[in-house]
Amino acid sequence: MKTIDCLLTPRIESENVKYDTLVSYPISCEKAIADENRVTISTDKIVITGKGEDELSLAEGYIKQLSLIFDGFVPVCSFTFYSPQYKYRGFHLDCVRHFIPREELLRIIDTMSLVGYNYFHWHLTDDQGWRFPVPNYDKLEEISSKRYIYDNDSRNHIHQGFYSREDLEAVNKYAEERGITVIPEIETPGHAEALLAAYPEFGCTGNKIDVQNNWGVFENVMNPSSPELWVFLEAAIKELASIFHGPFIHIGGDECPHVQWETHEGCRRIMEENGLKNTSELQGWFTTKVSGIVKRNGKRAIGWDEVVDSPEIDKDVVVMSWRGLGGARIASSRGHNVVLCPENGGCYLDRFPSTEPWELGNLSLSVPKASYDLDISMKELDEEKRKLVLGAQCCLWGERLHSGREMEMMVFPRAYILAENLWLGEERKDWGEMKDRKDVLGLISWRKDILCNPGKWE
Ligand code: ACM
Repeated sequence: MKTIDCLLTPRIESENVKYDTLVSYPISCEKAIADENRVTISTDKIVITGKGEDELSLAEGYIKQLSLIFDGFVPVCSFTFYSPQYKYRGFHLDCVRHFIPREELLRIIDTMSLVGYNYFHWHLTDDQGWRFPVPNYDKLEEISSKRYIYDNDSRNHIHQGFYSREDLEAVNKYAEERGITVIPEIETPGHAEALLAAYPEFGCTGNKIDVQNNWGVFENVMNPSSPELWVFLEAAIKELASIFHGPFIHIGGDECPHVQWETHEGCRRIMEENGLKNTSELQGWFTTKVSGIVKRNGKRAIGWDEVVDSPEIDKDVVVMSWRGLGGARIASSRGHNVVLCPENGGCYLDRFPSTEPWELGNLSLSVPKASYDLDISMKELDEEKRKLVLGAQCCLWGERLHSGREMEMMVFPRAYILAENLWLGEERKDWGEMKDRKDVLGLISWRKDILCNPGKWE
């Protein structure tokens, strides 16, 4: 018996499938942890065994794929499959720049579960919006969840969206049922203008600003010396920790200009009191304080790789290496766990998938093959450091994507392709074989009513 060596549709057509024996799906399914990863479909039931929960989830993904291919039926067959090479297999969606309603998110989460993703990193706050409630901070919904789109200098359109606590719980439950753990993200200390629009006292100037309606990096950032800010962050993190069952909360950390900190009296005072030589060290101080709140709430903090631009932060913080792989090298050399998501390495799916003029997207090219080429094993590192690499994730930033449907076109097929890279690893992956499955991927997506960009693959 051949072990299935791909994530998209087990290639069992020529192996064990008797096409004359199709059974109507769903049928009863038994699952158990065991020494072997195996799916056995017989006429009256499906039996799945897996070496762990990840394997059981992927097995269900395989079966759902088959039911899509065979249009409501599954073939009688039995096959074994590999365990995942990496334990962190994530996807990130920015639901701030454009609000993505819950139903649209669920469609993407469900599709991701077909190919073995196990973490959903949910970007919930940024300059352009704050998208979840914190008890006693009503202005988050009133002010921070709305941005005004100006035309001829008049406010003539509002973009807004806010998830209720019930929405967050429902997404968490839906993801969990599919073997996916949600990681909520609060951006700190930068990318915070939407928050500061409602609560200027959390910022350095105290000035009233609007929720940002442009894309980029902005100077209004959180004020480390604001006592009110810390009360708020305690409340916000506590709220997230009470909703999401997973082990991680993401604390942002990226792209935080320090210009306001340089001259701010309160910031200078903290630096003096703590012997911090510069504002980069002040950001390290900030990261330590936020990650401490996360820890006290029973979770582990993850930060974008800027968190290691300052020398000393808690080793327990997981570092997401997005500015290439430099962050991963530094973080692993300091003993941090690392997740790879290099913007130039097939992980930023908001990049154009091809050079065709009609493509949606942003900034630069990231062809599907780049998501397969990424070497997640980081061969260059020595053994101890390599063990700190937990896996990788794809990221979808939403500046130029207006709906879940548009997101789908950017995510698929590249997310399917990265998933296989993550599951199989360097030794087993095979681009030639992957390309052969293009039509099958199209069929699965079509039957699932998920948009998949057929475009160019390399
Ligand atoms: C990022 O792309 N600013 C993490």
